[in-house]
Amino acid sequence: MPIRVGGLQILTVVMKIQKYSIIPVGVLLLWLLPVFAYAQEQNDFKVQCLECHQETIEKWEASAYVHPPFKEGKCTACHATEHMEFTSKPGQSCLICHTMTLEKLRQSHFGADVTGKDCTSCHYTHGSERKGLLKEFVHTPFLKGMCNICHKLTTDGKIELKDEPGKLCLSCHKALIDKEGGNVHPALDLMGCIDCHSPHTTSRERLLKKDQTKLCLDCHDPDQIKKHPSDVVPSGKIIKEQNYKVKLSKEGKVVCSSCHNPHSSKEHYLLQESMDQAQLCYSCHRRE
Ligand code: HEC
Ligand code: HEC
Ligand code: HEC
Ligand code: HEC
Ligand code: HEC
Ligand code: HEC
Ligand code: HEC
Ligand code: HEC
Ligand code: HEC
Ligand code: HEC
Repeated sequence: MPIRVGGLQILTVVMKIQKYSIIPVGVLLLWLLPVFAYAQEQNDFKVQCLECHQETIEKWEASAYVHPPFKEGKCTACHATEHMEFTSKPGQSCLICHTMTLEKLRQSHFGADVTGKDCTSCHYTHGSERKGLLKEFVHTPFLKGMCNICHKLTTDGKIELKDEPGKLCLSCHKALIDKEGGNVHPALDLMGCIDCHSPHTTSRERLLKKDQTKLCLDCHDPDQIKKHPSDVVPSGKIIKEQNYKVKLSKEGKVVCSSCHNPHSSKEHYLLQESMDQAQLCYSCHRRE
């Protein structure tokens, strides 16, 4: 008997069966062919991606919660062979498997019917550190299942907003926009809170929908920000360790909000600190 389990072993078994069977080997092999081809195809698919996405794939594989079809190599349940193409819209490809448990699906969503919604706006598809494959940054009321603070749920599970998003947000975050004596960023009027933030969960800190620099440069001219380096990790020389109070991004970079408040400020140019005696500058630079 061959020791390795695989095509050869199966072939040996097939040959043995053949002794007692009237079905010719060829026909049996033909029947098994799609099985081999499928397994091979799945394996090849992942190998192709590893070349460039190895780090990401290994991170997913090591996460606390791994989505079964990813773990089992069923990549083509969602991915098409063309790079960055999908077999169907994310919401639809999810329901290929999750449709069997629609009632359970509603229960998992606090009574809301999420079919037809973009599942990937809340869930990761490969692996996550959070239960339920949720993205890592989560809005507190959402995580607590307080959907009804912002939504009306109909008995058939339809989900509607109770009010305009901006009003909903300000019912809890009023302090953010300190109108008295402060300058409010016109962006708040031009776009609502949910143009910059997700009300639920995202892969970016502060529930941002996009990379902060990209978000700001949607409206602002890159020339305006050339005056000072941003999107850089400060050298040890720049930031005074003993007075470390500046806001840096998750990656430790200087970003727009290190110096500007994105909502409002009593300082000119929405600055986080005064420039009367260049206090802002000295929050990072040493006074020589
Ligand atoms: C030759 C290198 C290379 C290979 C091989 C490769 N990718 Fe990519 N892929 C990239 C690069 C580079 C990007 C980023 C492109 C961008 O951001 O515009 C990317 C982006 C993606 C995205 C979009 C990610 C996003 O968040 O928008 C998907 C999906 C994707 N790849 C899937 C795959 C899959 C599945 C495989 C394996 C079948 C694969 N890639 C193989 C280089 C590669
Ligand atoms: C349940 C559906 C699903 C399955 C199964 C799945 N993927 Fe994905 N994959 C996605 C979606 C959707 C994206 C787009 C980015 C996102 O939302 O995570 C993606 C993105 C990717 C990317 C781009 C990574 C990046 O830089 O953002 C790679 C690489 C990838 N998948 C590889 C795989 C491999 C390899 C497998 C199988 C072992 C697999 N996927 C299985 C749905 C899936
Ligand atoms: C090939 C089949 C398949 C596809 C396609 C698929 N899933 Fe799953 N998914 C499963 C199985 C199997 C489980 C584990 C059993 C269960 O919880 O129903 C699971 C579990 C989950 C869980 C619960 C994980 C946990 O840790 O509790 C979430 C969330 C999820 N899937 C979301 C999605 C999303 C979003 C998509 C589409 C991008 C999707 N699934 C597509 C098969 C699939
Ligand atoms: C508005 C955000 C949101 C959307 C959109 C969404 N989900 Fe969920 N989903 C959640 C939350 C929150 C949970 C509960 C997570 C937990 O168990 O803590 C959940 C739970 C689940 C679970 C069960 C996890 C478990 O362990 O019980 C599955 C499966 C799932 N979702 C699949 C889907 C699919 C498929 C779609 C798209 C048709 C979808 N979700 C759309 C937020 C969302
Ligand atoms: C803080 C307020 C808030 C809370 C709490 C909240 N949502 Fe939402 N939700 C919104 C807003 C605002 C939108 C509209 C988003 C948009 O249009 O981009 C929305 C949209 C949705 C959508 C539609 C998404 C789509 O793709 O069309 C679903 C589904 C949803 N919420 C489910 C839930 C569930 C389930 C919960 C509870 C676990 C929840 N929401 C908690 C504010 C909230
Ligand atoms: C029911 C009250 C409530 C409503 C309504 C509400 N939030 Fe929140 N929000 C909270 C709480 C509680 C926190 C967590 C505060 C903390 O950790 O200090 C929070 C935190 C945040 C954060 C910071 C997250 C982080 O990672 O630090 C953002 C951004 C945010 N909310 C945006 C919104 C937006 C946008 C809306 C409207 C769609 C909204 N909130 C509506 C209660 C609310
Ligand atoms: C132009 C984009 C933009 C808009 C519009 C916007 N925010 Fe923010 N918001 C940000 C950025 C960027 C941060 C991150 C600041 C940081 O780095 O700490 C943030 C942070 C937050 C925080 C975290 C606490 C804090 O003070 O840093 C809350 C809460 C918040 N926003 C709520 C809201 C609410 C509510 C609205 C609508 C009234 C809103 N945001 C509109 C960009 C925006
Ligand atoms: C929807 C468009 C829009 C977005 C997105 C946006 N802004 Fe603005 N911002 C404006 C407008 C309009 C003004 C007022 C006109 C001007 O000064 O250019 C302004 C003014 C400013 C000012 C100067 C305020 C003053 O008193 O002169 C600063 C600083 C600023 N924005 C920073 C940011 C930062 C940081 C972000 C990203 C978090 C951002 N903006 C995103 C539209 C936007
Ligand atoms: C290290 C601090 C710092 C960082 C980081 C920074 N800024 Fe500024 N920014 C300033 C100061 C100081 C001013 C006032 C300049 C002046 O007096 O002319 C300013 C002015 C501005 C203005 C109004 C000035 C004009 O020319 O109209 C805008 C808009 C602006 N910044 C946007 C941004 C954006 C967007 C980012 C992120 C990509 C950013 N800034 C990053 C410190 C900073
Ligand atoms: C959030 C922290 C931070 C603040 C606040 C800050 N800086 Fe910087 N500054 C940096 C970083 C990071 C660099 C990049 C050089 C490095 O890391 O070694 C830098 C570089 C510089 C340079 C070198 C110029 C160049 O292009 O390389 C000058 C000049 C400077 N800053 C002046 C200022 C002034 C003036 C202010 C007040 C308006 C200020 N800085 C506020 C972090 C900061």
